[in-house]
Amino acid sequence: MPAPPAFRGSGFFIPSVWAKRRAGKAGLASTPKSEYGCVPDLLQARTVMPALSDFTSIAGDIAAQGYAVRPRRAMQTLFPPPALAEWERFAASWNDLGTDTYMADGGRYRRRRFAAFRMSGLAVARKPHQPHYQSRDYNPLNGGVVRWFDPVRDEIAVHPVLLSLLDLCGHVFGTIAKPPAHDWHVEMHQFRIEASSGVAGQPTPEGLHRDGVEWVCVMLVNRINVSSGVTRIFGHGQSLGSFTLTDPLDAVFLDDMRVMHGVTPIAPLDGARSAFRDVLVLTFREDDPAPQ
Ligand SMILES: [Fe+2]
Repeated sequence: MPAPPAFRGSGFFIPSVWAKRRAGKAGLASTPKSEYGCVPDLLQARTVMPALSDFTSIAGDIAAQGYAVRPRRAMQTLFPPPALAEWERFAASWNDLGTDTYMADGGRYRRRRFAAFRMSGLAVARKPHQPHYQSRDYNPLNGGVVRWFDPVRDEIAVHPVLLSLLDLCGHVFGTIAKPPAHDWHVEMHQFRIEASSGVAGQPTPEGLHRDGVEWVCVMLVNRINVSSGVTRIFGHGQSLGSFTLTDPLDAVFLDDMRVMHGVTPIAPLDGARSAFRDVLVLTFREDDPAPQ
């Protein structure tokens, strides 16, 4: 059985992912699966750490201004090459999202899947599928309703891109959380916002908002035939900045307790072709204590 690809450069890889792959190729019995078939406990043992400065620079920006933006060229140094090598498979999963039928504005321009995890140190465990809920305090448009979305597919819930980003976020947010949370409740959202000629797609139909958590990471997965979609950050009633996530891996990290965020509507550049914006959103809040 060949060894996992040698790691080069900054970053780290997740041996459990490679161990599972080797077991699969060898025809060995798979790890017991949960309700949705995902491995219930993905222990991540790291062999090579990203540079401490990578975490501290992101955490420093968040501490200084409430958010941190990192372009593709910076983000790609934070993922292990074996994970990035499987990026296309990860991104392609956004082609298989169900329509969000809860849109109070009547729109049918949003597709999504949802998953919840518990992060305890370096361990990530997927929780049983559950609804997404926001109070109307945070989402006056679609909040106050228990919303069930299709679950993130098993292979994406254990994809090395996702696990690497979870690990990165855990380190960054764990660095600046006060007091540091020992366990995180993490929610994962796969979003596709579609636009067509005459019908704009609204990435954040609720306008400027907080997600009602502690920390948020938004990473662009794809942006096809789209204009606008400008991310705006506000704090204390003032604009703190605006930027556009244009390339896959472009990301913003948010202190959700401190700043509000919103994204302007998108429109197609060419009305004769499909237009969409795909993002991955991860939200973090301190989890409830584990049952004894
Ligand atoms: Fe949001």
